[in-house]
Amino acid sequence: MSAPRIPFNQLRPADGPGDERAAIDAAIARVVGSGWYVLGPEVDAFEREFASACGASHAVAVANGTDAIALLLRAAGVGPGDEVLVPAITAAFTALAVTSIGAVPVVVDVEDASLTMDPAAAAAAVTSRTRAILPVHLYGQAADVHALHALAIRHQLAFVEDCCQAHLCTAGGVPVGLRGVGGAFSFYPTKNLGAMGDGGAIITDDAEVATRLRRLRNGGQRDRYHHVETGINSRLDELQAAILRVRLPRLADATRRRRALAARYRRQLPPGVRPVTERHPGHVYHLFPVRVAERDALQAHLRADGIETLIHYPIPLHEQPAFAPFNPAPCPRASAAARQLLSLPLHPHLRDDEVDAVAASVDRFMKGRVFA
Ligand SMILES: Cc1ncc(COP(=O)(O)O)c(C=O)c1O
Repeated sequence: MSAPRIPFNQLRPADGPGDERAAIDAAIARVVGSGWYVLGPEVDAFEREFASACGASHAVAVANGTDAIALLLRAAGVGPGDEVLVPAITAAFTALAVTSIGAVPVVVDVEDASLTMDPAAAAAAVTSRTRAILPVHLYGQAADVHALHALAIRHQLAFVEDCCQAHLCTAGGVPVGLRGVGGAFSFYPTKNLGAMGDGGAIITDDAEVATRLRRLRNGGQRDRYHHVETGINSRLDELQAAILRVRLPRLADATRRRRALAARYRRQLPPGVRPVTERHPGHVYHLFPVRVAERDALQAHLRADGIETLIHYPIPLHEQPAFAPFNPAPCPRASAAARQLLSLPLHPHLRDDEVDAVAASVDRFMKGRVFA
């Protein structure tokens, strides 16, 4: 099959103005020449810079977003057998972080407009075994943190935020990740802030949590060879940190570009193709999913037109065989959405005329349906 005319994403660093490519090449050469490759000065500097960009007191870099969530849950006191509320629509890794520490993911239905965790459904799912609420700031938009955090306080639950799709996202002017114990980020290459391999970080305003996390990510060592608890190996390497340090200062501009492209889609898409509601202006548009009745036919039409799309996510958590042992309850809103969702291309390198071409192609499909 030939390469799509408009690919879903473009991960290569820009060669043009700003010369991100040359800056990354220089950063890699600096690390190679340093002779220090894991948890070193680049990681230290990135942690300071990322914390500052997020308005947090501390950032702790780890190997990936899944570990970031799992270690943050542990630092929040969640352990084997504890129940953790997770939304039905998310990357399965949110819930896999929960199972990786022996805790129990309790899948909660989503709100119809934003597709983030529904506070009423979350309230109904709280039991005497619930230890934490783990909202996901899905597609770059904050969940209803106000209501969910209030619920956590009411029941004395840990509030742990999955910010893996939400770098620089805010809700009510407050950065995500700082209302409760902390926030977990992924730097998987497709993320708004992407490395050239795996990476992750946790932000927190709690110095004790940060100290514990630094220990947990490095085998539970207090000092070298003194293991005071059973941590894991989740260290970030210097190459990834150096690359992330090049990209972080460019993230605000890239986010503005994502927002402008999303607004352009919203102006042009025909009725019958419904973008997920923008509830907060702090939305950072990691993805641009729309809901449409004939999703599979639209995806085939766009593919034939050379436009690549993806589905986030085709199978909600409660329908995944992996989580069947936890007997998840039905989540009808998530099930209905999963049949209709289609993510259109959106990334900072996408051009205005490419958005126009995608919207025109969607329009042709919808008109063909009306007159079919
Ligand atoms: C919402 C969400 N949570 C968790 C993860 C896991 O992050 P990682 O792939 O870095 O482990 C991802 C990304 O895959 C994600 O999108």
